Amino acid sequence: MIWYSEKREDSEMQQILEVSDKKKTSMEKISLRFLVPDDIDEVRLLCEESFPIEYPLSWYEDITHNSTRFYSLAAVYNFAIVGLLVAEIKSWSKLNKEDKTILSESLGRGSSLAYILSLGVHCKYRRSGIATLLLETFIEHLQSSEQNSKIKAIYLHVLTTNQPAILFYERYNFTLHSFLPYYYSIKGKSRDGFCYVCYINGGHQPYHLIDQVRDFCYKILKFNIFSWMLSRIRLVINWFNYHAFSKIHFRQ
Ligand SMILES: CC(C)(COP(=O)(O)OP(=O)(O)OC[C@H]1O[C@@H](n2cnc3c(N)ncnc32)[C@H](O)[C@@H]1OP(=O)(O)O)[C@@H](O)C(=O)NCCC(=O)NCCS
Repeated sequence: MIWYSEKREDSEMQQILEVSDKKKTSMEKISLRFLVPDDIDEVRLLCEESFPIEYPLSWYEDITHNSTRFYSLAAVYNFAIVGLLVAEIKSWSKLNKEDKTILSESLGRGSSLAYILSLGVHCKYRRSGIATLLLETFIEHLQSSEQNSKIKAIYLHVLTTNQPAILFYERYNFTLHSFLPYYYSIKGKSRDGFCYVCYINGGHQPYHLIDQVRDFCYKILKFNIFSWMLSRIRLVINWFNYHAFSKIHFRQ
């Protein structure tokens, strides 16, 4: 596998990654490139086929036009987009409350996280290693430069019923972080979600003693001990959810 470029410039969009060692597929060549504005219709078709969620047109415009904000990588076979991964970098301080516990406050302040908005492969090409290729390329990108070293974790949300995706992410060292009741609204119905996390670049779960001590001191300084205790209770609940759900769900 060869990834030719570190820097995202126009020329990079066309650079080709050759895959010669993939199993279980008749595909001989897959190329990777970033999405461009002309891809919008093809991407919409792929997403409508792959995801139960309906995205607004503005979302498709964003991911195909805004290459500064979004890392939108497409897997191409025979000139057609057969898979895609869309991600963005978020600073810890701007995360939703429920996602902030991915990192301890002491590690989180000043750090960023990569959020996978979408990862989908056309149904005809699944189980051929395409999602693996997209994810590995993204992770390599996040680990490849000093500039990205402050990105301490990759996280995503997934429907609790999406067994293929959960098995896929668990295979690549993503672990369950939290259970999110009624997180999704799909065709007017509320559906539960999970948040999955993979730590990179020295990031880790906020369970180390040193994190607890640092957080404690920080909260004392801010006279906010009550909120600190609430966040510990939340962690215990998350831990309980993890063990309860992992017994029920998706163990092969
Ligand atoms: C989840 C998804 C992206 C996986 O794509 P893929 O290209 O088929 O995945 P890969 O071929 O790289 O699979 C790698 C490994 O993940 C696991 N895996 C992937 N799909 C699986 C499935 N349906 N059942 C069990 N394990 C699965 C397997 O361990 C697999 O390795 P193996 O084929 O050697 O057994 C694909 O099923 C998909 O597009 N689903 C619909 C969209 C979606 O739900 N996206 C995730 C939410 S963001």
